[in-house]
Amino acid sequence: MKILILNGSPKGESGNCADIIRFLKRRRKDISFGVLHLAKTKFGPAALRKIKDADGLLFLTGTYWDSWGSPLQKFLEDATELEAREEIMGKPAAVCVLMHSVGGKSVLSRLQGVLSSMGFLIPPMSGVVLSLNSQMAQGNSKKSHNEDFWSLDDMDVLLDNLSVATACEVHWKAWPVDRKNFRKTWLRFSK
Ligand SMILES: Cc1cc2nc3c(=O)[nH]c(=O)nc-3n(C[C@H](O)[C@H](O)[C@H](O)COP(=O)(O)O)c2cc1C
Repeated sequence: MKILILNGSPKGESGNCADIIRFLKRRRKDISFGVLHLAKTKFGPAALRKIKDADGLLFLTGTYWDSWGSPLQKFLEDATELEAREEIMGKPAAVCVLMHSVGGKSVLSRLQGVLSSMGFLIPPMSGVVLSLNSQMAQGNSKKSHNEDFWSLDDMDVLLDNLSVATACEVHWKAWPVDRKNFRKTWLRFSK
């Protein structure tokens, strides 16, 4: 099972997202992880080859002012040509968002929406938000609500569902996509 992690953190290899990658590599020896740190690796033929080669993708990002990381936004803008392309149609994509306290769930849902619109397959229970505040709450001695908080253990479920989804052999249909004009200026007004 080959999973390509796309790290959208501006801090690349030195941030919290990079720590999650190290954690996953240590924990899941059954999975072969590839990594693209989008802070330094831009979208291009080499990145496309890695995306094509992977069984599934894991998008990973922190929350920055209620949004995903700027390297991930740049990647999505640059990779717009992938929309509805054979290489990604139905390719399973999971999402993990980090945050301190607020905004991460909205980032998760919006990112899943974008990925689905591009043509990726979003498996059930394949999106997790890991937060500083739930980590602190889980350290609390009153454990009665702990199961309701996302935790690092839930990354196993995310990865398992991603793996299961790679077994889906479905011929998805794509609606027509304008491949020539999407970057053109369209606003016209009389001077
Ligand atoms: C510029 C900036 C903006 C942030 N904005 C938010 C935010 O809106 N909500 C939140 O809960 N955490 C916010 N955080 C915390 C990060 O999401 C969190 O620390 C995350 O783990 C960062 O991952 P990284 O170290 O890989 O970049 C922000 C951090 C930075 C540096």
